[in-house]
Order: sequence, then C-alpha cells, then structure tokens
Amino acid sequence: MDTTSKIAVVTGAGSGIGQCVALALCQAGWSVALAGRRRKPLEATVGKAGANGARTLVVPTDVADPAAVGHLFSETLARFGRIDLLFNNAGIFGPTVSFEDIPYGEWQAVMNINVTGMFLCAREAFRAMKRQDPMGGRIINNGSVSAHVPRPNAAAYTTAKHAITGLTRSLSLDGRRHDIACSQIDIGNAATDMVKNLQVDGAGARQANGRIAPEPTMDLDHVARAVVHMAGLPLSANVQFMTLMATKMPYIGRG
Ligand SMILES: NC(=O)c1ccc[n+]([C@@H]2O[C@H](COP(=O)([O-])OP(=O)(O)OC[C@H]3O[C@@H](n4cnc5c(N)ncnc54)[C@H](OP(=O)(O)O)[C@@H]3O)[C@@H](O)[C@H]2O)c1
Repeated sequence: MDTTSKIAVVTGAGSGIGQCVALALCQAGWSVALAGRRRKPLEATVGKAGANGARTLVVPTDVADPAAVGHLFSETLARFGRIDLLFNNAGIFGPTVSFEDIPYGEWQAVMNINVTGMFLCAREAFRAMKRQDPMGGRIINNGSVSAHVPRPNAAAYTTAKHAITGLTRSLSLDGRRHDIACSQIDIGNAATDMVKNLQVDGAGARQANGRIAPEPTMDLDHVARAVVHMAGLPLSANVQFMTLMATKMPYIGRG
C-alpha cells in the first residue's frame, strides 16, 4: 500500500479535462486512480504521466453502474489506503435535437451518467472520507456554464448540470461534520472533443438565436491548474463555485 502522497480519484481520466487534470495532479505529487469506461485511453494517460505513472491506478469503470463504482473505490483504497479527493468529472453531452424529439433512452443515458454517476461516485468517496483517519476530503464536481444557462437543443445536458449544483450544495452541507468539502467548477469552452462535437458542419456552434457561429475556446491547461489549486487548499477553505471560461465566448450578455 502506497500512502506517501495525497490520493485522488479522477473519473473520465482517459480524455479531455479528466486526463489533463489527472496528469496535473500527478505532476503536483498526487497518487491518482484513473476511471473511465475504456481501458485503452486510461492507459494512454498513464503513458503520458511518464515516471509519475507509477503513482497511478487504472480501473475501467462505468460510473452509472453502482457495482463498478464500488469496485473503483475499493480498488483505490486497497492500493492507496485513503481518498483525499474525488474529481467527479465523467460526463456526456447527449442529444442535440429539438426538445420534442429527445428520445427517452438518450435522456435517460444523460441522467444515468451525468447525475446518477456523479452521485454514486460522490457517495463512495463520502463513505471513505467519513471513515478514514484523519477524517475528511474534498469532492470537486465538474458542472458547466450549462449549470447556469442552456445551449439551444441541449435540455438533457442542461437539466443534468443544473442538478449537479444541487448535488454540490447538498454535499457541502452534509459533508461539514465529517470535514468533507465540496466544490464545483463550471467550465465554458475548454478545447475538448465534447466542444468540438458541438460544431455544425464545421461552421461553429448553434447560438440562442438559431445562428451558427464560431466560438473561442481555451486551453485545457487552465482548467487543470484551477483544479490543482482547488484540490490543494486545506479542508478549512473551499472554492465553493468557480466559473472558468473562454473569455469571449457567448455566455455573458443578452440581446
Ligand atoms: N469541455 C468543456 O468546455 C466543458 C464545459 C463544461 C463542462 N464540461 C464537463 O467536463 C467533463 C469532461 O468533459 P470533456 O470536455 O473533457 O469531454 P470528453 O473528452 O468527452 O470526456 C468525457 C470523459 O467521460 C468519460 N465517460 C463518459 N461516460 C462515462 C461513463 N458512463 N463512465 C465513466 N466514464 C465515462 C469518457 O470516457 P469513456 O468514454 O472511456 O467512458 C471521457 O473520458 C464532462 O462532465 C463535461 O460535461 C466540459
């Protein structure tokens, strides 16, 4: 069992924000359990970690499956002995169709992964953090600017991300007596495949007025640095909510 550094669990660690944050945590000295459905991208993250890869653990996990999430946390505890941080990040964007055409199955998939998946991971982290000595830890939920305002044709994603704000507030309150802090980072347009996939015919993303327009993005590194900062605070201090976005994206403002 390796208990020499602080221990993190990162979901969605095989790509995009999750991978970048996992690598930055490793770089900052953390040991990191890497979760996501596919093993290969998780192993690619280990490869990118170089020598720090020795402080990682790959656990292929579907966050929507309670048994798989239980296995992720028991494997992490078996290897590292405690859990100081959960970066609750895994998510999908889901259907981008007119509201009345949203298929029930696709709505359900977004809720299962983006809401229930984050609940299941938070519950396992909460249990471990409450039990361990010294007690406590931090959960950072990956919300979105969609936790504030919607993109057009994205009701499932928007609903799920609004729900995460409720999860964050509840965890913050219920976690207090166990020294469990909970934060939420609401990101806007970090350059990942998820944002690339919002492109309509390569011309940009659909805007509130129906137009298609290119949108600025920001480098993932800014997100990673912010999460490492949030993760590194003592449990007596907490970034409750942080909005981190491409400065000139069409979020602030109205017609
Ligand atoms: N990029 C942005 O600007 C932005 C803005 C706001 C919020 N976010 C949030 O950031 C998070 C990461 O998104 P991203 O932009 O980095 O996109 P991404 O590269 O598509 O990452 C999503 C990750 O989630 C994992 N995942 C999906 N379903 C899963 C499941 N059922 N169980 C376990 N892992 C699962 C995927 O791996 P597998 O497919 O292998 O499972 C993938 O690694 C999401 O919650 C997203 O809503 C992103």
